[in-house]
Amino acid sequence: MSTSTRILMCPPDHFHVNYAINPWMKGNQDQVSQEKAMSQWQALRALVARFAEVVEIEPQEGVPDMVFTANAGTVAGKRAVVSSFAHKERQPEERHFAQFFRKIGYEVGELPEGVRYEGAGDSLFDRGGEWLWAGSGFRTDREAHEFVADFLGVDVLSLTLVDERFYHIDTCFCPLAGGWLLYYPQAYDVASNELIESRVPAERRIRVTEEEAAEFSCNAINIGENVIMHDCSDRLRSELERAGFTVHTTSLSEFLKAGGSAKCLSLKLDEPEAIAK
Ligand code: ARG
Repeated sequence: MSTSTRILMCPPDHFHVNYAINPWMKGNQDQVSQEKAMSQWQALRALVARFAEVVEIEPQEGVPDMVFTANAGTVAGKRAVVSSFAHKERQPEERHFAQFFRKIGYEVGELPEGVRYEGAGDSLFDRGGEWLWAGSGFRTDREAHEFVADFLGVDVLSLTLVDERFYHIDTCFCPLAGGWLLYYPQAYDVASNELIESRVPAERRIRVTEEEAAEFSCNAINIGENVIMHDCSDRLRSELERAGFTVHTTSLSEFLKAGGSAKCLSLKLDEPEAIAK
C-alpha cells in the first residue's frame, strides 16, 4: 500500500434518495437498499485502501448525498476551495466539509456569495499537464473558475457540459496518469471538444460510448496504474489495458440511483501544490 495518497470517503450511514436533483434520481426515490449500499461502499473502501490511505469524514444526518465527497471542494497543496452547492438540499454539507479541511490544516477558500461551485465533481487535475479542467453548465458557475484559479494558483481550462445526465465533469471525464484521458465527448459542446483535442493528443484520448458513459465508466478513481470503477465493458477494459492500466470493478448500483459512482464517492487530499502561474 502506498500512503502518499490520502482519499476522503464518507460512510453511507445516512445515504438514501429522497429528492431528485439530477435525472438519475428521478424514479429512484426511496429505492435504495441501505444494507446493499453499505456493503457496496465497504467493498469500494477496501479496494481503494489497497492503493491509498482512506480518510473518513463523519456522516451527518439529513444530508444523504454527503457520501459523494468529490463534491466537498477542490484541493491543491494545503489549500482547499470549499463547494457552494447549487441545490439547497446539499448546501448544509458545506460547513461540514469546510470544518474538515480546517481540521486537517488546510487553508479554506470561500467563494463570493451566490457563486455556485461543486468541487472536484466539476474540477479535475490533468495528469499529464499542469492545469485544472473545470466544468460549468449545470452546477458550477464560470465565475467560480476564476476564483479557483486565483486561490489555488492553478491554470484552469473551462469546459461546458451540455447533457443533463452528465451534470458534473467527473461523470464524463477522467484524466489518467501519464496524460491519458477517458471521456465521453458528446457531453461537451464544440468549443470544449476543441480545447480537449488541443491539449490531449488523439492517441491518449480514450472515448467511451453512450452506453459506457451511462454505466458511469468515466467516474473512475485512478491511483497510479489502477483504475477503479463500477462496471467496465470488455471493449473499454482492453483499451485501458493497452494503455497500461489495470481495471478493478466493484458494483455501486445503489449509488448510481443517486447519479454517482466510484469517483464521486472519493476525494484525493494530496494534490500537488499548484505551480505558480
Ligand atoms: N446526488 C448527487 C447530486 O446530484 C450526486 C453527486 C455525484 N457527485 C459527483 N461528483 N458527480 O449532487
